[in-house]
Amino acid sequence: MSETLERWGSRRAFILAVTGAAVGLGNIWRFPYIAGENGGAVFLLVYIVFVLLLGLPVMMAEIMVGRAGRRGPIQALGALAAEAGGSRHWRWLGAFGAFTVFCILSFYSVVSGWSIEFLVASINGKFSGATAQEIGAGFDAFLANPGLLVFNHTLFLVMTMGVVAAGIAKGLERLNNLLMPLLYLLLVTLAIYASTTEGFVPALVWLFKPSMALITPTVILHAMGHAFFTLAVGACALMAYGAYMPDKQSLPKAAAAVAVLDISVALLSGIAIFAVVFAQGLDPTQGPGLMFVTLPIAFSELPWGAAWLSVFFLLLLLATWTSAINLAEPMVATLQGAGMKRVKATMAVALGVWLMGLLSALSFSSLADFRPFLGRNVFELVSSIPPDIFLPLGGMLIAVFAAWVMPREKAQEALGNSGWGFYLWLNIVRWIAIPMTFIVLLSALF
Ligand code: PFF
Repeated sequence: MSETLERWGSRRAFILAVTGAAVGLGNIWRFPYIAGENGGAVFLLVYIVFVLLLGLPVMMAEIMVGRAGRRGPIQALGALAAEAGGSRHWRWLGAFGAFTVFCILSFYSVVSGWSIEFLVASINGKFSGATAQEIGAGFDAFLANPGLLVFNHTLFLVMTMGVVAAGIAKGLERLNNLLMPLLYLLLVTLAIYASTTEGFVPALVWLFKPSMALITPTVILHAMGHAFFTLAVGACALMAYGAYMPDKQSLPKAAAAVAVLDISVALLSGIAIFAVVFAQGLDPTQGPGLMFVTLPIAFSELPWGAAWLSVFFLLLLLATWTSAINLAEPMVATLQGAGMKRVKATMAVALGVWLMGLLSALSFSSLADFRPFLGRNVFELVSSIPPDIFLPLGGMLIAVFAAWVMPREKAQEALGNSGWGFYLWLNIVRWIAIPMTFIVLLSALF
C-alpha cells in the first residue's frame, strides 16, 4: 500500500505543509478576537498550556496514525484497527473528522472571502486616511451586503478546490516555501512598529499579565478548542498529511517546530492588533471584526501604508488558502477512498461546503434572525461548536486510538522515536491529554 501514495518531496516540505495547515485565520484573525472576548492574558496562558499538554501530543498521535496507515483517514483507521484486533467502528472517527472539517471550512471560506475583499480594498487605497470609526462602519456595511459576501466566499472556494483537485503535494510545496517566511517577516515588522506606539505597553499587559480571577469554565473551553483549532488537530486533516510523510523524518521534532511557529505567529499578530486597540481606544471584545478593523488602522499610520496593507492581506489570504486546502483534504480523501475519482470528489465537496457556507455568509444580513440553536445564528454556531467541541472530541478519540488501540511497536515505529521520547509521549497522551480533554468537554456539557 505504501508505494501507491505519493510522498512529500523532502522533510522541509512536510514541515512547511503542516505549518501551512496550522497557520491561518486561527492565528491572525481568530486568536486575537477570542482572546479579546475571554480576558486576554488568562486566555493566552490556558491556551498555551493546552497547546503543550493536549494539542502537541495529540498532533503527534494524529500524524503518526496517518503515517502508520498510509491512506485516507477512514481507510487508515479501519485497517489499523483490524490489524490490532480492534473494532472496525474506528472508521467512523474518520467520518466524524470529515464532518468537522466540513463545518469548519464552510465558515472559514466565508471569512477568507472577507480577506479577499479587504485585499482589493487596500489595493484601491480605500483605507488611506480613514478614521477608526469609518473603517469600523465600512466593515459593518460590508457584512450587511450578502451579494459581496457570497461572491467572495465562492471565489475563495474555487481557488481552494482548484488546488485540491490537482493533488496536494504538487500544489503546495512551492507555495509554502515562499509564503511562510514572508508572512512571518511582515508580522515581525508590524510588531516592531507596534512597539513604537502608545498602545504597545497596554497591549503587553493585556496579553501577558493574567488576572486569575477571570478564569472561568467558558474561558477554559474556548482555550482548549482554540488549541486544537490553531494546530489543525482533531479532524483527521493532519492524519491525511501524515500519510504522505517520509519514513525517516522525526515526527516529534516536526510537530514541535510547527507548534512553536504557530504560537509565535499568534503572539505577533496579537501584539500588533492589541497595540492598535489600546492606542485607538477600541473595544478588545468586539468579536470577529477585530482584525479587519484594527489592522487597516495600524497600517494607515505607516509610510506606504496602503502597499503594506495589501501585502499583508495577500499573505493572509495565502495562509488561509493553505489551511483551507488542508481542511478539504480529509473529505476528498474519504470520498476517493470510497471509489470516487479525485476531481469528482473535489467537486462534490466544493458544492456541499459552498451551500453550507451560504448560511454563514447570510448570517450577517438576511439570516441574522435565524437562530436555530442556543440563540445563535449559523455563523456563530459553526464558528464555535466545531472548533470548541468537535475538534477536542475527535482529537481525544484519535489519542485513545493511538495510545491504547494501536500495537505499541507499530506506534513506536510510526512515531520514529523508540527511546524515552516515546514513553514520554505515550504517558502524556494516556494520563494527561485524554483525561484532561474529557474533563473539560464533560464540564462544558453541564
Ligand atoms: N489551523 C487552521 C488555522 O489556524 O487557521 C485551521 C484549521 C485547519 C483547523 C485544519 C482544523 C483543520 F483541520
